[in-house]
Amino acid sequence: MSTQRPRLSVIGTGYLGATHAVCMVELGYEVIGLDVDTEKVGRLAKGEVPFYEPGLPELLTKHATNPRLRFTTSYEEAAEFADVHFICVGTPQKKGEYSADLRYVEAAFTSLSPHLSRKALVVGKSTVPAGTAARMEKLMRSLTPTKDVELAWNPEFLREGLAVQDTMHPDRLVFGVNSDWAEQQLRAAFAPMIEEGTPVIVTDFATAELVKVAANSFLATKISFINAMAEVCEATGADVTALADAIGHDERIGHRFLRSGLGFGGGCLPKDIRAFIARAGELGVDQAVSFLREVDEINLRRRARTLELGLDLVDGTYRGTRIAVLGAAFKPNSDDVRDSPALDVAASIERRGGDVVIYDPHAIENARRVHPGLIYVESLEEALLGADVTMLLTEWDEFRSMDPAVVGKLVGQRNIVDGRNVLDPVRWRRAGWRYRALGRP
Ligand code: UDX
Repeated sequence: MSTQRPRLSVIGTGYLGATHAVCMVELGYEVIGLDVDTEKVGRLAKGEVPFYEPGLPELLTKHATNPRLRFTTSYEEAAEFADVHFICVGTPQKKGEYSADLRYVEAAFTSLSPHLSRKALVVGKSTVPAGTAARMEKLMRSLTPTKDVELAWNPEFLREGLAVQDTMHPDRLVFGVNSDWAEQQLRAAFAPMIEEGTPVIVTDFATAELVKVAANSFLATKISFINAMAEVCEATGADVTALADAIGHDERIGHRFLRSGLGFGGGCLPKDIRAFIARAGELGVDQAVSFLREVDEINLRRRARTLELGLDLVDGTYRGTRIAVLGAAFKPNSDDVRDSPALDVAASIERRGGDVVIYDPHAIENARRVHPGLIYVESLEEALLGADVTMLLTEWDEFRSMDPAVVGKLVGQRNIVDGRNVLDPVRWRRAGWRYRALGRP
C-alpha cells in the first residue's frame, strides 16, 4: 500500500462524510463513499448532494464523472478498494436519555471488519464518548481476518454551512493513534492540509475523543454565558449586544461565539454536551462537568423567553393570532433542523393555539418531515401576509436585510420578535414597529 497517496473510503455519507469524500477527491485522492441508504448513494452517484451545503454541489458536479470518485452500498467493495477507511456515521442522542446512540458506529465496524483482509487503517471520525475507540479496536480485531488492521481516531470540527472550507483548510488536525505507522498513514491521508501548515496534534485515543467534546462544550458554554448575561440585561434594562461587543474586544474573550439570542441547536452541540454529561457520570466525574447541565438549561430557557416576548405582543394569548416564523433551520446556511430552536419555538406557539406560518429559504422540506402539522410557505412575503407577530428565529441574510417599511405593508400588525439580535431596533421602531429582543431594551 502506498503511504504517498493512500486510497480512501468514507463510510457514512451525511453532512460530514459526503463533504469529506468530495473534498478529498478535490485534493487529489481516490475515494469511495459508502452508505447503507441506497437512495442517498444513488443521488450522490448522479452528482446530487442530498442536503444543503454551500459550495458542495459545485464540487460534486465538478467530480461527477471523475473516475477517482465513486459511491457504493457494498462494504466488500470499500474494503477491497481502500487503504484508509474513515468512519463518518452519526451518533445521535438516545431517545429519552442523555447518552449517545452508538449503534451506527458499531454497525459500521461490524460490517467493515470481516472484509478487511489486507493491511489497512480504520479511522473513526464520528463524535463518540471517551472509551469508544478502545472498544471499537477490540471489536474490529475480533472480526478482521488479518491482524494487520489498525485503528485511529481523528475527530472532525467542521461547521455546517462552512463544511467545504473547514474540511479543505481545517484549523487543526488531531490524530489519536497507537503506532507510528498509523500516524504516517494519517499524515499521508492529510498531506495537502499538512503542507499548508495545519497544526497536527498526535495523541492517544481517549484524548482525541475528548478533544471534540471539550471543544463543543466550550463553544456551548460561551454561547450560554452570553445568553445568561442577556437574562441579567433584561432584569436591569441593559443591552446584551453592546455588552458582548465591549467584552469581546478583550482578546482573551474575543467576539466569536458571543452572539446572544435564541441559543444553540443542531446535530452536535446539544447532544454532545448531554452525551458528555452521561459519560462523565459513568466515569465517576459528574461534578467536573455539572456546569454543562446549567449550560443546557440556560440554552433551553431562551426558547421559553422568546415565547414570552411574542406573548407580550399579542396581549397574553396566542389563540386566534397569526404568527410569521422566519427560519426553521438551526442556523443560517444550513437545511438542518435537528434540535432547531426555531422549529421548537414554532411548534410551541402552535400548541398554544397560534396559527404559525413558517418560511425558511432551504429547510422547509426537512422541517415538514419533523413537524408535518405546521404550515409552511414558499416565500418571505407569504409568511408575513397578515401576521400579528413576526418572529425572526434563524438569521438568514434574507431576514437580516428586511426593510421595516416595506415588510410593514404586508403584515397585519407591526410586531416583531428579533430572536437572533440581528435587526436595528432604532430603525424598526422608527418605522412603527413594536420591537422585542432577548437581552435588549
Ligand atoms: C458545531 C461546531 O462549531 C463544530 O466545530 C462541530 O464540528 C460541530 O458542531 P455546527 O453545529 O455546524 O458546528 O454549528 P455552529 O456554527 O457551531 O453553531 C451551533 C449553534 O450555536 C447554532 O444553533 C448557532 O445558531 C448557535 N450560535 C453560534 C449562537 O447562538 N451564538 C453564537 O455566537 C454562535
